[in-house]
Amino acid sequence: MVRKPIVVVTSHFIDAVETRIDREYEARRSKNGASFKSEELLAAAEGADAMLVTMADRIDAEFLKRVSASVKVIATYSVGYDHIDLRAAAERKIAIAFTPGVETDAVADLAMLLLLGASRRAYEAQELVRSGAWKSSSATALLGWQPTGKNLGIFGMGHIGQAVARRARGFGMKIHYYNPIRIAEETVGDAIFHDDPLDLLRVSAFLSLNAPDSKETHHFLYAKTLQLLPPGAIVVNTARGGLIVDEELIAALQSGHVAAAGLDVFEGEPKLHPGYLALKNTFLLPHIGSATVETRTAMGMLALDNIDAVLSGTPAPSLVTRDS
Ligand code: DGY
Repeated sequence: MVRKPIVVVTSHFIDAVETRIDREYEARRSKNGASFKSEELLAAAEGADAMLVTMADRIDAEFLKRVSASVKVIATYSVGYDHIDLRAAAERKIAIAFTPGVETDAVADLAMLLLLGASRRAYEAQELVRSGAWKSSSATALLGWQPTGKNLGIFGMGHIGQAVARRARGFGMKIHYYNPIRIAEETVGDAIFHDDPLDLLRVSAFLSLNAPDSKETHHFLYAKTLQLLPPGAIVVNTARGGLIVDEELIAALQSGHVAAAGLDVFEGEPKLHPGYLALKNTFLLPHIGSATVETRTAMGMLALDNIDAVLSGTPAPSLVTRDS
C-alpha cells in the first residue's frame, strides 16, 4: 500500500479543509491544538514530507537551516510570506507555496469596511449605542467624513489594491496609486500613477495600505511620511502591521493630523500598541481580512493543491517565486 504523505499541520482549519487533510495525509499536529513552539515544530517535521503553516509560524533562516531534509514543500495559508525566509528555503531546496488570488475580494471588502468604519466613527457610534448612553438625537454628534469625490491613495496596486480601487470607485472616490511597477491602463483604468510614494501621500485624503511588508516598505508610515498626508487624512491598513511605526501614527491620531485609522493588522500582533486602544478615532479589527467561509475554504484547498503538486512532481498552482 502506498503510504500517505506526512504533513505537519500547525493550525486548525475550516471543516472542509480538515476533512481533506484527514483523508489524504498523515497529519502531525501539536498536542491539545496549541501552537507549536519552534523546537516542537522542528521535531514534528522530522521525516515529514510537507508542512502546512500560517503567518503565525516563524519560518526563519535558523528554522530552515535545521528543518528535516525530508520536507519538500512548506505551504503557507496566507498570501503574505514575510514570515518565511525565502533565501534560506531556496538554499535547502524547499518549495514555498502561498495563497494568492483567492483572498482578493475578502480583503478588499474589509478595506472598505475599515475605510467607512474609521471615517464614519463606527467605534464611537457603537459604543454610544451599546453603553446605553444614546439618549437623544443631535444634529452635530458623531459627524464623520465622506469619501465622495475624495482621493483614495493606494500604496501597493497588486490584486488586492486593484480590488479596493474597484470598490472605492463605487463610493465616488478618485483613485491614485503607487506601485513599484506602473500597471497597464486596461487594468487600472483612470487611476493616477505616482512613481514616488511620497507624492502619493501628498494627495491621499484617504490612504489604503496594500503592499507586503518588505525591506522596501517596512515602516513606510512614520512621523515624516505621515506629515505629508493632507490634514485630516484617514489611514486604512489591511496589509501588514510592519508598514507603520505605531507610536508615530498614534501621535498623528492624537493631534488630529490623521483624523481616523481603520486597522486590521498590527506589528507584533496579536499584541497591539496600547495607544491604539486609548483612542476613539481608531476602528480596530483582529486580522480578519480573509475570514469568510468561502475564502478560508479556498485558501486551505489551494495550500493543499500546492502540497500535492510538489509531492507528485507536477506544476504547483502558486509557488512563491522571485516575481511573486
Ligand atoms: C494573508 O493571507 O496574508 C492575510 O493577511 C491573512 O489573513
